[in-house]
Amino acid sequence: MEVIPSGGAHGAEIKGVDLRQPLDDATFDAVLDAFHTHSVVVFRNQDITEEDHIRLSARIGEIDNDVYSHFAHPNHGEIVIISNILDDDGNPIGISDAGKFWHTDLAYTNTPSRASLLYSFEVPVTDDGNVLGDTLFSNTAAAYEALPDDIKEQIEGKSIINRHAYAYFKSGQGEQFKKSADALDDVEHPLVIKHPFTGRKILFCNEAMTVCINDMAENESNQLLGFLVEWVKKADFVYRHKWQAGDLLMWDNFPTQHFVEHNFKLPLRRRMQRITVRGTVPEAA
Ligand code: OGA
Ligand code: MN
Repeated sequence: MEVIPSGGAHGAEIKGVDLRQPLDDATFDAVLDAFHTHSVVVFRNQDITEEDHIRLSARIGEIDNDVYSHFAHPNHGEIVIISNILDDDGNPIGISDAGKFWHTDLAYTNTPSRASLLYSFEVPVTDDGNVLGDTLFSNTAAAYEALPDDIKEQIEGKSIINRHAYAYFKSGQGEQFKKSADALDDVEHPLVIKHPFTGRKILFCNEAMTVCINDMAENESNQLLGFLVEWVKKADFVYRHKWQAGDLLMWDNFPTQHFVEHNFKLPLRRRMQRITVRGTVPEAA
């Protein structure tokens, strides 16, 4: 196995691993090490079944399967379909609007995902060979570290309220998330969290779901939050994933946020499947 860092803010490719086989303990430990070091890792050219995807995910931890049951794979409740493809009746076969706003998976629950494992079957490519639908990942530990000292002081000890699909509803694009939104209550998280494995400090608000910073006047909260959710998008902190069919991309949700460039539409098809592994309750840093 070989780990090749992206050369950017974070992210790495793991080479020499065939995910059709159960990994031996040494390889699995090395994968987890790379995952904690680089936060976003990709295994290219994989040709895996649903069972292979589930086996790798379940080895990391308990699989989450309670949020998007209405977009679950028909035979595997653990798997969520992410796609812009429509079925014969014109209904989406999965979530077509995933990642229009920067977010951390399941950070609108008490236990944001420890890991997300997204496997791509089809990637939109233009006639002249440009791949569309990149996924961008911000390194939110680096983003925290780089904050000006006065902002670090202002956010010290603060907490936030997160709400499922908040930015989608706010911008009139909530329909697709109505079922899951109805079932979920708001949650409170620390604004600066400590990574459960590396101990690094992480900036934990995001534009998709953070409604406010607690114990601040509304206008102050809006202003500070507006600054913070833009700050994480700075190019210095971002790794851009250019997809290939057969990528298994695995990311650590605690020190990252991600966003999908929705610059593709049918007839260019994008089809992926995702499993999330349950995390722990985020602790204040
Ligand atoms: C997700 C998501 C990323 C993508 O699956 O959690 O945000 O590239 N999608 O579709
Ligand atoms: Mn996501």
